[in-house]
Amino acid sequence: MTKKFYVTTPIYYPNDVPHIGHAYTTIIADALARWHRLKKESVRFLTGTDEHGKKIENIANKKGKKPKEFVDTLVLEFKSAWKKLNIKYDRFIRTTDKDHEKKVQEILQKIYDKGDIYLGEYEGYYCTECEAYYTEKDLEDGCCPIHKTKIEKLKEPSYFFRLSKYKDKLLKLYTENPEIILPEFRRNEVINRVKEGLQDLSISRTNFSWGIPLPFDKKHVAYVWFDALINYISGAEDFWPADIHLIGKDILWFHTVIWHSILLSVGLELPKTIFAHGWWTFNKEKISKSRGRVINVDELISIAGVDSVRYFLFRETPFGEDGDFSEKSLIARHNNELANKLGNLVSRVSGLIEKNGVEKCENNLIKKLKLREIEKLIENYKFDKALNEIFAFIDICNEYVQSKKIWETKDKKALFELKESILKIAELLSPFIPESAEKIKRQFSVKKIKKSKILFKKI
Ligand code: ME8
Ligand code: MG
Repeated sequence: MTKKFYVTTPIYYPNDVPHIGHAYTTIIADALARWHRLKKESVRFLTGTDEHGKKIENIANKKGKKPKEFVDTLVLEFKSAWKKLNIKYDRFIRTTDKDHEKKVQEILQKIYDKGDIYLGEYEGYYCTECEAYYTEKDLEDGCCPIHKTKIEKLKEPSYFFRLSKYKDKLLKLYTENPEIILPEFRRNEVINRVKEGLQDLSISRTNFSWGIPLPFDKKHVAYVWFDALINYISGAEDFWPADIHLIGKDILWFHTVIWHSILLSVGLELPKTIFAHGWWTFNKEKISKSRGRVINVDELISIAGVDSVRYFLFRETPFGEDGDFSEKSLIARHNNELANKLGNLVSRVSGLIEKNGVEKCENNLIKKLKLREIEKLIENYKFDKALNEIFAFIDICNEYVQSKKIWETKDKKALFELKESILKIAELLSPFIPESAEKIKRQFSVKKIKKSKILFKKI
């Protein structure tokens, strides 16, 4: 039986066009999906949009549109951005899709029947920007700790999910299955917070209507996070449990404690890994619409092209840690690594083969490629180090051309070794820079190889 691999991104709020942060998580998911497709596994890659809730309703109101009408236009922006970035997902799920709404109600009913949901009254704080509840001690001068905006005090009837009941089960799970939350320091953060105790979670709202009605009480709509998390099940087909939910560190609590408890309550398997990556800044400034700078996908691509930005995001920062994006460092990597190393190798070798041809022989050059190590690095989410190793081999190939003086010796056997090595390099790079890798592959797979056009124009 073919191995299955199921990877997801968060479903993003379609309140504005996607920016570098959304692009980052989605590009990582795309590369993982491509990697597992290379391994001939059966892959499912799910992404989409989180469309209900007060936050979306408010923005739509401001624009004078109905929520659905408003998100419809933004969904097109997300889809077009992912297309431009060469993202190959299997489904784009929207929480307004009928099959998802049905699944949410089904799960709510199951949990209700089981006795894990009860009616109460919520009294406390709610940040609509975060779509999250806060306690008095979380606030800073009465403001949301993330958005620094004034925060709503709520008092309304609400259904609660018995989150508190899962404390010990969660702690046991997290200690026994360390790969369930990665990186390790994030797992420890969650464990420490769970140890402080869990409160039952308010999972319904009554003061607005843009959401999924509770099946057992239609006056209430489901809390947007309860609705959103279930997308991973609605969109799973027969791939559940997910191998990995990729998320940013901002939404780790929802994807661990809350999501895991929901799944435990319903009796479904837990996703194998939640990986929370770090935060990108832009020239060291926070990326935010209100304070700081937003860099959207079109701007990102216009600097040095799609593959260069994809490459940069993998290569610049270890996956899991925070990173800083600057045009300068993107251009430096584009010029020094993609153009000077990879581009140069491809163009020199193709030119030499056009003139001299190749002769089949044992490939000693490719033995210097640390293939096992690279595979292990990718499987352990160490993408920057994997690329480092691939580029170390590109250096070795460039030096080979140099030390063998192939332009004088016209060594056809060396050219054969180089051709095969370049094809392998293209395969290994294909999850990261799919378009360029495909070009290289096409160019070096034909009988009569010709000198290539420039792969990466220097900037
Ligand atoms: O939280 N650096 O949606 P969202 C890195 N709808 N990643 C970033 C980033 C940055 N500066 N900014 C955003 C939501 N991201 C919910 C999710 S899932 C069931 C529901 C990425 O539009 C990162 O993946 O606010 C982060 O977790 C996500 O965008 C938040 O997207
Ligand atoms: Mg957010």
